[in-house]
Amino acid sequence: EPLYIITPTYRRPEQIPELTRMSHTLMLVKNIHWLVIEDANVATKQVTRLLERTGLKFDHLTAPMPEKYKQKKGAKPRGVSNRNRGLQWIRANATDGIFYFADDDNTYDITLFDEIRKTKRVSMFPVGLCTKFGLSSPILKNGKFVGFYDGWIAGRKFPVDMAGFAVSVKFLLERPNATMPFKAGYEEDGFLKSLAPFEPRDIEFLAGNCTKVLAWHTQTKKNDPSAPLDMKLYGNTNLIKLKE
Ligand code: UGA
Ligand code: MN
Repeated sequence: EPLYIITPTYRRPEQIPELTRMSHTLMLVKNIHWLVIEDANVATKQVTRLLERTGLKFDHLTAPMPEKYKQKKGAKPRGVSNRNRGLQWIRANATDGIFYFADDDNTYDITLFDEIRKTKRVSMFPVGLCTKFGLSSPILKNGKFVGFYDGWIAGRKFPVDMAGFAVSVKFLLERPNATMPFKAGYEEDGFLKSLAPFEPRDIEFLAGNCTKVLAWHTQTKKNDPSAPLDMKLYGNTNLIKLKE
């Protein structure tokens, strides 16, 4: 069964390096279908070329953030239109398998994908380097779920990171209204709540009953987008062109 990886991405100097690293992880995993969705009106050529070079099965889609959120000051709902586009693609094209929301800047152990393949409905697992606690994870005591560990609970029913859960396609298809809200900080919680009927007791715990960290919420230092070389975007030495 295919494993659909839904990856939001957007144009910036770090885009090609991030996607290069992530693609090299996915190239080590069997039966992946990578849905790369850009927050842009037009797909970036260099991204398509990179995807073609990987030999991975992929679709390169676009889903710009609506203007009203783009213009908002403060926290924006990053990657939400992208992920909802991914869900729309799944509903239109997939019948079985599992999907996983994997941001382009995180770090993934390849064994995570073997774990995720065990998902029957909704699975969860730890994410390292996440929030001020350095870890976001369900807590199990003697194999029983007792709560969530996360540096930002904020009244959430499911205080988990985007990289900390996976969902079966069939489970999603049985829930035609499931969607991710444009609500900064509450994207994961909102999406998981939209999967109702779904309660914490229904969660399948992976990664050795949540004892292993197989995904990390790494973040890349921002680089100056006005750097003088086109390589700021393209990254690939084959594509570097000096500006006149
Ligand atoms: C935090 C959370 O830890 C993530 O679980 C959550 O996905 C994200 O916020 C969110 O707001 O949705 P953080 O590292 O702060 O993660 O967010 P980014 O990595 O900057 O962005 C999340 C994803 O959206 C990335 O794949 C990024 O490429 C994409 N993105 C970001 C866009 O498509 N457009 C943007 O304007 C910004
Ligand atoms: Mn990130």
